[in-house]
Amino acid sequence: MFGLNTKLTNTVITALTLSITVASAECTREGLLAAAESYVAAQTSGSIDSLKLSATNFTYQLNNKVTDIKTGVLSQPLKIDLNRSTADTIACASYTMLISATGSKPYVISTQIRHRDNDTSSIALIDTIAATTGALFFDAQKTLGYIQKENWDTLDEGQRASRDELKRVGDAYLDMWTDAKAADSIPWGTDCERVEGSALTRPCGATLPHGGSQKPNGNRRYVIDETVGSVDVLCSFDSLGDMPDSHEVRLEGGKVKYVHTVTVLR
Ligand SMILES: *[C@@H]1O[C@H](CO)[C@@H](O)[C@H](O)[C@H]1NC(C)=O
Ligand SMILES: *[C@@H]1O[C@H](CO)[C@@H](O)[C@H](O)[C@H]1NC(C)=O
Ligand SMILES: *[C@@H]1O[C@H](CO)[C@@H](O)[C@H](O)[C@H]1NC(C)=O
Repeated sequence: MFGLNTKLTNTVITALTLSITVASAECTREGLLAAAESYVAAQTSGSIDSLKLSATNFTYQLNNKVTDIKTGVLSQPLKIDLNRSTADTIACASYTMLISATGSKPYVISTQIRHRDNDTSSIALIDTIAATTGALFFDAQKTLGYIQKENWDTLDEGQRASRDELKRVGDAYLDMWTDAKAADSIPWGTDCERVEGSALTRPCGATLPHGGSQKPNGNRRYVIDETVGSVDVLCSFDSLGDMPDSHEVRLEGGKVKYVHTVTVLR
């Protein structure tokens, strides 16, 4: 009896340990979106006090440069007119788009947040491209008008592209300036919209680059969310000069529906 009980107890303990290990190793959508929400709240108040930044190794990157978070845009309050976040449970990262059009200083901001060890209770990296007056085609009010009209609802399973396909399309988009064949490898939707800064092109497959530059767009960081068919890539837009840049693409039913770019001129 004693032996059996011990064995049972051991089994129970093993099972408990396993379930705890599995639970803590998972990066959840809820955890990612909660962290993204805490970031939006911090940007609204201009205070990072309530952000759960990693105590051991936190990095703030602004326009592709490691920056003291206290001197960056996150440490000034902004009136947020629009925010939208996506979640990547494989990379354990989120992407948030913020538009502040009606406050004292206009901004359009693209931010990726990364967590280490699948632990969304702690933020390892806030990686921001922040465009304001002087950025490429900058007009926050116009951008807000276009983005507000878009539909970013969750896609039905049958309308979702795979993670690999989303990454491929994001890469092909950024390769158009260096690879003459890239543009034709992208599945353009007939009714897609491209909002570059505040410049609208519809359909978005019109007037595309077909190579010409020798310098690929580098330092690419991805956030991929299959549930809304999106890939966001932060990069250094080296093909046309060293410009901090965000390209976000949404695919519906395998076809490109929206493209957004946020590009800072140096
Ligand atoms: C993080 O979570 C994802 C999704 O649940 C999983 O695929 C991945 O293996 C996990 N990674 C680690 C380092 O635990
Ligand atoms: C600290 O974070 C940076 C950026 O996320 C990473 O490159 C580096 O490896 C980390 N260092 C340690 C000791 O974890
Ligand atoms: C962010 O967007 C959500 C969903 O549209 C909204 O409910 C929330 O109030 C927004 N947050 C801010 C600070 O504007």
